[in-house]
Amino acid sequence: MNPALETLVFALRETPLQPGRTLFLGAQYHPDLPESLGYQPLKPLAEACLSAGMELTDQPAGKFTNIIFLPGKSKEETLAGYALAHDLLIPGGTFITALSNTSGASRFEKELRRATPIIASVSKNKCRAFTASNTEAWNEDILRSWQEIAQPSPISGTDFITRPGVFSASRIDPGSELLAKFLPPSLHGQVADLGAGWGYLSRIALEKSPKISAIHLFEADSRSLSCARENLPTGKAAFHWHDVTTGLPEKYDHIITNPPFHSAQSKDLDLGKAFISTAVSSLKRGGSLYLVANRQLPYEAHLSSLGLRSRPIFEDHAYKIIFSS
Ligand SMILES: C[S@@+](CC[C@H](N)C(=O)[O-])C[C@H]1O[C@@H](n2cnc3c(N)ncnc32)[C@H](O)[C@@H]1O
Repeated sequence: MNPALETLVFALRETPLQPGRTLFLGAQYHPDLPESLGYQPLKPLAEACLSAGMELTDQPAGKFTNIIFLPGKSKEETLAGYALAHDLLIPGGTFITALSNTSGASRFEKELRRATPIIASVSKNKCRAFTASNTEAWNEDILRSWQEIAQPSPISGTDFITRPGVFSASRIDPGSELLAKFLPPSLHGQVADLGAGWGYLSRIALEKSPKISAIHLFEADSRSLSCARENLPTGKAAFHWHDVTTGLPEKYDHIITNPPFHSAQSKDLDLGKAFISTAVSSLKRGGSLYLVANRQLPYEAHLSSLGLRSRPIFEDHAYKIIFSS
C-alpha cells in the first residue's frame, strides 16, 4: 500500500471531508476513502481504480466541495496541482494533500502556506497530510505563477513540447538521444515504441527511416501521450494509452524502446524485464528490437532466456545499446 495514501486516509479519519462532491487528483483506490471522481493519468493505476469501481475522468472540470491530491514526483506538477485544485474548489471548499517526507512533504507544505493558511497537518508513516480551505482568498500572484508552470512548454533549443510531471520534462533523455543516433535508416513497415514518453524516439525514427509505414506509440502516462500528439507529424503515428506489461495488440517489424526501470519512487527491474518480454512476444518473424539501457542492467540474460540473440551495438560508461533479433 502507498504510505502517502494511508496517511491521507488517517488524516481524513481525524478531520472528515465536507458533504458534497469530491475530486481525487492522482487517484488511487482505498476502501476507506469517501466516494470521489478520480483523475489518474497512469494507465495501470487508472485500471486498478476502475476495477475497484471508482469513476474516473480524463479532464478534471467543474466545481467540487472537496479535493484530494496525491502528487507524483515533480515539483512543478505538485505546484500546478495546487493551482488546479484552487480553480476547481467551491468557495469554502476543502483541499487535502499528502506526500512522503522523502518527496519533500515539509517543503511542499511551506509552499502551500505561501498561498493560503494550512488548517490541519498530520505526520504518519514517514509522510505528511495537510489541509487548506478555500474560505479566504488564496494569494493571486503565487497562484498565477503555479498556473504558468502547469502550461506545456518547449524543451530549450527544440520544438518538442512537454509538461510538468512527465518523464524527462525538461530535457531530452540522454539514453534516448543515444539510441536515436543508432537507429538505422533501414527501419521499415510497422514499428512500435514502447514507453514512448512525449515522442522523442518515435519522431527521430520517422525522420531517419522513410520506409516506416506506421509508428505505434505505447505509453502509460496520458499526459506524455498528449505531448507526443503535438510532437509528431500526423499521418504515420498512432497513439495508445496502454500498459506495456499487459502485452501489445499486434506484431511489429521493429520495436524501439528505452524501458522504464522505476515505478513510483523506487527501482523496479521487473518493469524493464516485463517490457522486454512484451517486445519479444510482439515481434514479427525476422523482426528486430533496438533498446537502450543503463549499462549495469542485466537485460541480455533476459533476452537470451526468451530465446532472442542480442548483441551490443555500443556501450559507454553509462549506457548500452542492444540490438536483438
Ligand atoms: C525511460 S522512459 C522513456 C521515454 C521516452 N521513450 C523518451 O525517450 O523520452 C520510459 C517511459 O515508459 C513509460 N512507462 C512506465 N511504465 C509503463 C507501462 N507499464 N506501460 C507503458 N509505458 C510505461 C514512462 O511513463 C516513460 O515515459
